[in-house]
Amino acid sequence: MDLRQEIDAIAGNYPDRRSAVMPALYLAQDKYGYLCRKALEEVADILDLAPIRVYEVATFYTLFHTEPVGRYHLQLCTNLSCMLRGSEGLLSQMCQELEIEPGQVTADGQFSITTVECLGSCGTAPVLQVNDRYYEDLAPEELSRLLQSLALSDRGTRTCRKPR
Ligand code: FES
Repeated sequence: MDLRQEIDAIAGNYPDRRSAVMPALYLAQDKYGYLCRKALEEVADILDLAPIRVYEVATFYTLFHTEPVGRYHLQLCTNLSCMLRGSEGLLSQMCQELEIEPGQVTADGQFSITTVECLGSCGTAPVLQVNDRYYEDLAPEELSRLLQSLALSDRGTRTCRKPR
């Protein structure tokens, strides 16, 4: 199913198809890797919206990325509970092992790191979100194993992704 078909299927659940902009952006982001101009314009066209309206939504919510992120986007919570349970050390470890800083993408396009506020799972701190999946109660040795296993896997390429 192509992006138009997927968005059309979801838009049919709304009285006004333009209300489907958030799930449509989510689908486009999954297809393209991030919400590049082409993706935003495609969503606008499919939902019959002005591109600026789609851009406004895409830039308002932090779950949408208008700049390239890695195939594995690592979002580490650095809020209080996670900080008290070692997230600062995990952040240093990630940056050292991947040789990037928060906000950057690895040269091969595989990883990016951001720090985030509470991921809503304080009871299992520290928490790392990798794309859509949570890794909770994360220990340094588990983080190393996780990064190694992700580096060896391949999620394929997406059309907007620009290796740096
Ligand atoms: S403080 Fe990290 S999940 Fe809430």
